[in-house]
Amino acid sequence: MLKVADKTHDESRQGEAFAPFAVDPSSYHKRFYIESYGCAMNFSDSEIVASILQGEGFGATRNFEEADLILLNTCSIREKAEQTVRKRLTEFRKIKKSKPGMLVGVLGCMAERLKAKLLEEEKLVDIVVGPDAYRSLPGLIGEAETGQKTVNVLLSREETYADISPVRLESNGISAFVSIMRGCNNMCSFCVVPFTRGRERSRDAQSIVAEVQELFNQGFREVTLLGQNVDSYHWSPENEGHNGWGKAVTFANLLEMVAQVHPDMRVRFSTSHPKDITEEVLTTMARYENICKYIHLPVQSGSTRVLQLMNRTYTREWYMAKVDQIMRIMPDCALSSDIIAGFCTETEEEHKDTLDIMSYSKYDFSYMFIYSERPGTLAARRYKDDIPEEVKKRRLQEIVDLQGALSLASNERDLGKTFKVLIEGDSKRNQEEWKGRNSQNKVVVFPKEEYAYQPGDYVWVTIHDRTQGTLIGRISKG
Ligand code: SAH
Ligand code: SF4
Ligand code: F3S
Repeated sequence: MLKVADKTHDESRQGEAFAPFAVDPSSYHKRFYIESYGCAMNFSDSEIVASILQGEGFGATRNFEEADLILLNTCSIREKAEQTVRKRLTEFRKIKKSKPGMLVGVLGCMAERLKAKLLEEEKLVDIVVGPDAYRSLPGLIGEAETGQKTVNVLLSREETYADISPVRLESNGISAFVSIMRGCNNMCSFCVVPFTRGRERSRDAQSIVAEVQELFNQGFREVTLLGQNVDSYHWSPENEGHNGWGKAVTFANLLEMVAQVHPDMRVRFSTSHPKDITEEVLTTMARYENICKYIHLPVQSGSTRVLQLMNRTYTREWYMAKVDQIMRIMPDCALSSDIIAGFCTETEEEHKDTLDIMSYSKYDFSYMFIYSERPGTLAARRYKDDIPEEVKKRRLQEIVDLQGALSLASNERDLGKTFKVLIEGDSKRNQEEWKGRNSQNKVVVFPKEEYAYQPGDYVWVTIHDRTQGTLIGRISKG
């Protein structure tokens, strides 16, 4: 089973209906259980790990008590994320005592950050594997079975797992993540990701298109192209002309290639760094109806001075001009953001600048965090984490309250509008209702009525009511 503890991305996807595993787990001689924390990249990586393990005769189980191998795919983004994993590990201690042959492995960003230290700190851990070393898992498991503790945290400049077909572990059968690049070359001063995920590299465009085509054939109707900074996607074919483009593939080119797989396959992407999203990407989005009109464009702060300390490389005015450009090209585009409250030396005035830029950008949704100092980052080395906890908390609350009002206002603007909605499944509260999403990524709930629609179908829905997080509508008859 996959679980989110420290949610950095699309939280609303959690807890939905499970699709059956691709292969009957009872046909395997060993069982693994995997739990994922952190961002969508980690969830996507767990599907690659599942594929590697299946090749070794391991079947997935949703019950950790019957597992021969427990894996935690971990996140280091904030201190709290790491604490959650440590707590979870102590819970596994009991089972391990009663089941001596069982192995416990830590994967992902915490494995990369702490390396062999994790084995000393967490005695029950047998295997530590970083994000670029999952191909070595079978060998490491073999060694661990002989009683050795094993570690592989080598980062790679090439690994993209392009040839590995992910096992869709927990899926509604409609939406899937497709990883298009790995690593990050930006050095945002607060961020641990460049240390845990290594240098940026892009996956072969052909393998991405092939994966999306395969998903479409299996009935999937929405893909989210994933990377820490998707706009710096860049892939050069080894042979000119080999990809049919005869040139290197940019993110705008890739979006177009994926959009052309099928008009009924919706395309989303995450995350965009404001400095890298080009006009070409925006005009490509506008040209294809099936590229969703939604951009996650993390601002982090609304103050130019704080942005400089954060090493985000844009100013407040530059970001606002980017928002204007998006709205000019796609007036119906939804925007969301990541915001950090209480970064080092942030003044009250600068905090107000953040509130102000939120109102300017009219975010439909935001992920909002208290600044958490991460060892080894530029900010930890250079600046003092000097905003008192209660001030950070109060500022975060003001940000959360404002976002609540902005989300509600955004939903109110949708009253009376009719949207094309992709049905994902039953609404959580009522089996007589469908739940789906519009292009803007808003959740839409509506009665099934007498129609014989299925998950994966598109339907036009007119909105007559709203909450802060949901649009409520009726199937449009006209
Ligand atoms: N690559 C993505 C973000 C990855 S991390 C991007 O650049 O947008 C997701 C979010 O976590 C970040 O956007 C940031 O808002 C938040 N974050 C990262 N490091 C943090 C820290 N040390 N403290 C608090 N929030 C942090
Ligand atoms: Fe972290 Fe910045 Fe890279 Fe995003 S772009 S992963 S915030 S360093
Ligand atoms: Fe966390 Fe690593 Fe993602 S630190 S947010 S799991 S890249």
